[in-house]
Amino acid sequence: MIPNIAAFKTLIKDRVGLHFFNGMEGLLNAALHQRMSERGKESFEEYYDKLSVSTTEFDKLLSLLTINETYFFREQDVLDIVCDKLVPRILEQRSGPVRILSAGCSSGEEAYSLAIKLHQKYQENFASRVEIHGCDIDTKILEKARAANYSSYSFRGVDPLLQQTYFTRNGNQFQLHDVIRNKVQFQRANIVKEQLQPNFDIILLRNVSIYFDVETRRLLHFNLLTMLQPEGALFFGNAETLANNFGILKLKQEFGHFYFCQPKSARAPQPTPSAQPRIITPVIPAEAPFVAAPVPSSQQCDRWIKKALACVADKRFNEAEELIAQVLDSDIHHQEALVIKGAIALEKCEFEETALSAKHVLELDEWSAEAKMLLGLAMMWQQHTQQAIAWFKEVVYQQPGYWPAHYYLAEMYRQSELYRPAQRTYRITLQLLNAEMNNTGNATALRLPLSFPSNSFRFLCEHQLAQFTTQDGQ
Ligand SMILES: C[S@@+](CC[C@H](N)C(=O)[O-])C[C@H]1O[C@@H](n2cnc3c(N)ncnc32)[C@H](O)[C@@H]1O
Repeated sequence: MIPNIAAFKTLIKDRVGLHFFNGMEGLLNAALHQRMSERGKESFEEYYDKLSVSTTEFDKLLSLLTINETYFFREQDVLDIVCDKLVPRILEQRSGPVRILSAGCSSGEEAYSLAIKLHQKYQENFASRVEIHGCDIDTKILEKARAANYSSYSFRGVDPLLQQTYFTRNGNQFQLHDVIRNKVQFQRANIVKEQLQPNFDIILLRNVSIYFDVETRRLLHFNLLTMLQPEGALFFGNAETLANNFGILKLKQEFGHFYFCQPKSARAPQPTPSAQPRIITPVIPAEAPFVAAPVPSSQQCDRWIKKALACVADKRFNEAEELIAQVLDSDIHHQEALVIKGAIALEKCEFEETALSAKHVLELDEWSAEAKMLLGLAMMWQQHTQQAIAWFKEVVYQQPGYWPAHYYLAEMYRQSELYRPAQRTYRITLQLLNAEMNNTGNATALRLPLSFPSNSFRFLCEHQLAQFTTQDGQ
């Protein structure tokens, strides 16, 4: 038990933005114990005083607290958009270099993945066309990034030929070739409070904001606003984007993906970045304190959820969305709110948003039947029948009592002219509905889609089964 744990939490959040959500408090406890035992006899109060004044000690503790998980070509679709669409488009409009920042770069895999892809594309012209920078708060992980020497763990899913082309094996390690290594400059920076200049054309800030609370994410957006070129693009991780939509930067959809850009009102003319490679220099950190908003209680969140569901039932989707946004403002990872958000997007036929919410939920809980159901429905409504079948099947294997999945699976079988499986699956749906009526079945947590009355499902199943009977001449 650490008596002044709250003071440690506040200090860390004020300095670098990291917020220890309930599930992450163990990490802070373990790190504090480790540092204190390494330093010798000291009380928690003495250690706190040391931490407040010593940047060296703060950095050592921080290295134990940051989650540095990363690998080459992670969420490759965004890297493709950056390298194949955005960089060429900027180079058509002006001469290079295009300035790219991997913010929260950890051990460098993201920045180097971009460099490799752009080297493949531009070969010897690569040096003059792009500048790639990486920054992170964790000084220890930056040493690893600069060394560019990786174990096979960093190459999950990487094409072996590409690995052979750009790395030299040395025992169990793989050393990145200098042509790529020298192209990326790394430096320590706190992305929440420090500004890197001159401005960037493209910023990737992926899998970092999930460790910040809503106040910190808002501050982060104001900071990012000043670091982005007028036509620049800022990418968050796939599951983070919508939870970062504060209206500070403008959300834009292009090439089947969401990214943020400057709102028109903020687009002050910027000097064109020099073709000379420049070292980015942080401006003195702003001393603006973090103002913590009062955190709504879980009962308040439950009330908002209930109200949101009532609004959905009345088809008042905008109101429902506002209520759900309030829940997510207080807890970015609130699973039920994320599912409802995805379900509302589905009602509005905003399928990409449905998929983003569902994927966010699956990152938190890979067994979420509701998230898979949302993905199945989004596929079905876009007439991707086979993908819809695959998702619905996953749900029924995983949660056999979840009758909405059986019902839509039956529908998809029928549309694919797979009549026998369709009949069988409608019957199962009816049995589950009957069991639920008699209270003997597993009550499903959240029925999807939200606006569909469950008594209609019974009628629809009976109707379809009757059709089969007529066709069979039975
Ligand atoms: C999970 S890694 C993400 C790595 C990479 N962006 C990716 O998506 O694979 C998160 C990184 O963010 C860094 N980080 C956390 N807070 C930061 C801050 N305030 N400023 C800069 N980097 C930060 C951590 O040190 C960690 O290395």
